[in-house]
Amino acid sequence: MYLGVDYYPEHWERERWDVDARLMEDAGVELVRLAEFAWSRLEPEDENYDFSWLDEVISILGGHNIKVILCTPTAAPPAWLINKHPDILPVTRNGQRMSFGARRHYCITNRNYYYYSERIIRKMAEHYKDNPQVIGWQVDNEFGGPKCYCEGCRKEFQLWLKRKYGTLENLNKSWGNAFWSHDYTAWEQIPLPVVYYHNPSFDLDFRRFFSDMTVRYSNMQIRLLKGLNSGKFVTHNFMGLFSELDYYDLSREYDFVSWDNYPRDSSNRYRAALAHDVMRGLKKKNFWIMEEQCSYITREDITRTFPPGEMRLWTYHCYAHGAEAVVYFRWRACNFGIEQFHSGILQHDGTDNSISYRELKQIGKEMGKIGPEIENAKIVSPVAIIYDYENIWVNLAYQEKPMYDYPGEILRFYRSIKRLGINVDMIKSSDDFSNYKVIIAPLLYVMTDELAKNIKDYVSGGGIFIAGFRCAIKDESSNMLKEVLPGKLRDLFGISIYAWDNIRDMAVEIKDRDGKIYRGDTFADLITPEGAEVLAQYNSGWYTPYAAVTVNRYGKGKAYYTGCGLSQEFYDSLMKQLLSEYSIKDIVFPEEVEVNIREKDGRRFVFITNFSDKSVSIKIKRDMRDLITDKYINGETELSPFGIMILEG
Ligand code: GAL
Ligand code: ZN
Repeated sequence: MYLGVDYYPEHWERERWDVDARLMEDAGVELVRLAEFAWSRLEPEDENYDFSWLDEVISILGGHNIKVILCTPTAAPPAWLINKHPDILPVTRNGQRMSFGARRHYCITNRNYYYYSERIIRKMAEHYKDNPQVIGWQVDNEFGGPKCYCEGCRKEFQLWLKRKYGTLENLNKSWGNAFWSHDYTAWEQIPLPVVYYHNPSFDLDFRRFFSDMTVRYSNMQIRLLKGLNSGKFVTHNFMGLFSELDYYDLSREYDFVSWDNYPRDSSNRYRAALAHDVMRGLKKKNFWIMEEQCSYITREDITRTFPPGEMRLWTYHCYAHGAEAVVYFRWRACNFGIEQFHSGILQHDGTDNSISYRELKQIGKEMGKIGPEIENAKIVSPVAIIYDYENIWVNLAYQEKPMYDYPGEILRFYRSIKRLGINVDMIKSSDDFSNYKVIIAPLLYVMTDELAKNIKDYVSGGGIFIAGFRCAIKDESSNMLKEVLPGKLRDLFGISIYAWDNIRDMAVEIKDRDGKIYRGDTFADLITPEGAEVLAQYNSGWYTPYAAVTVNRYGKGKAYYTGCGLSQEFYDSLMKQLLSEYSIKDIVFPEEVEVNIREKDGRRFVFITNFSDKSVSIKIKRDMRDLITDKYINGETELSPFGIMILEG
């Protein structure tokens, strides 16, 4: 396991590098990420390379036992390159070519950009291939945009469509181009979706295309690096719940996923937890944190400074969800540039008196002791939630803003499961379901015959499947199905849906079989049971005769349909009822605390994280060993503000 920092030595004078390396070593830093946006310093002019400064930094770091990850610098093409090939710059949706500046200013399909990217990568990889201190590569930085609307991209898109549909008849039919006279009679007529209200099918294919083009460019880099640097790993820094790329596709050829974790503050704890689980799910493998927030950050605004303890809390939260390394962004706050109000482990003054530096020292000491014990420990889960980019895109494709909050719909279930101390896996809809006791699928719009069959096989074999509202309403082209809803799954759920409504800010009541009242929100599928048992009924106005939540026996298993958003207690009680055999019984903890478990060689490590800035008390019902202090604990125990504990047993 590694503890590391993102370091930009080119932002400081040469004399400072020795001081930095010493302070890093003192704090337990074992790994440094370098050269991320350094193209203008590595190739100051066309074909004129200078790696001497980087060699020197690496050798100074080596003197302090620090290993290195190098980045391909392609997220920031230098000015000379843009000047020579202005066609590399992306074109915005309204047809304007962007200018040089900021970063990520390149068109991802541009052939010239491929050429220069390959050239600098080849040079770097050849230069560092025999350097054992360089253990791996990060490709580019945070793929994802901007989307480009240039003529080159338009031609690529037309080709992509031709490959996909073969004939224009197919395309016109799949997109429903009879609507508003959109029929095409030649491939060259097809535009890019620059106008709003274009067509959801068109929009969905453009999203797939953009994702594919990014994967193609990313794979070019991976293959090049692997070919030239066989012993070194290749990864990329993903962005958690970012939704513009199919991350399952993007991650395929990387050795492992890393990601950039900026939770901001503890109000986002469940989203951060979910993001970790999504990242672990991409390759079903533990992951790295390549950029971990160490205190205040800048985006549109400047966020709060982390109080003492909070950086450490978020760090252990990463390990709790399956991180194998945590690398902080960034070693030192920069004195210039657009991120000058962004924190670093060291502040702008460079002294070792910062809160983050002191905390890093503590973490370094702790991880030095416990790292080898928890390294490669796995996360095993009885429950999975489907997280699917096609459905995220369909949810977006209607207009610019999502119809519903996709992660938000997942979080309704997720929170309740975490409150029981149960691990959650995030999976693709095409994954094997058989390892899970329960599968949950909010906003599963798109339904194919194959997926319907997999779900039915899973349930008939004894699985429990839970759908959220708007299930199985669309085909793969984002068109509404002609079937009575929930379409291909009607017999599985034993229900039909002939009417629905957007609840928005209406007050809607839902009553369960015991007369308990819940609030309904967001959307209402008005369910007519056809053999299913009704678990809760609408109890407001014209919704009243309809069912809101149902369950149906199907083969050896059960299928639940939750037709609307409900208050949290509803999910709490459903999850408790279905998963109680897996909940943590030997530790009692309040809501501010999250509990996760990693397992290795028959050993069980329980990660306990307190997200409150106050101390809280937990109850441990049998002897467990605290990995950090080596003491055995039993009974009522205090967790300090933002405190953490890792217990074995
Ligand atoms: C990340 C990015 C970093 C830095 C950071 C600031 O998304 O990868 O380079 O900009 O945000 O929070
Ligand atoms: Zn382009």
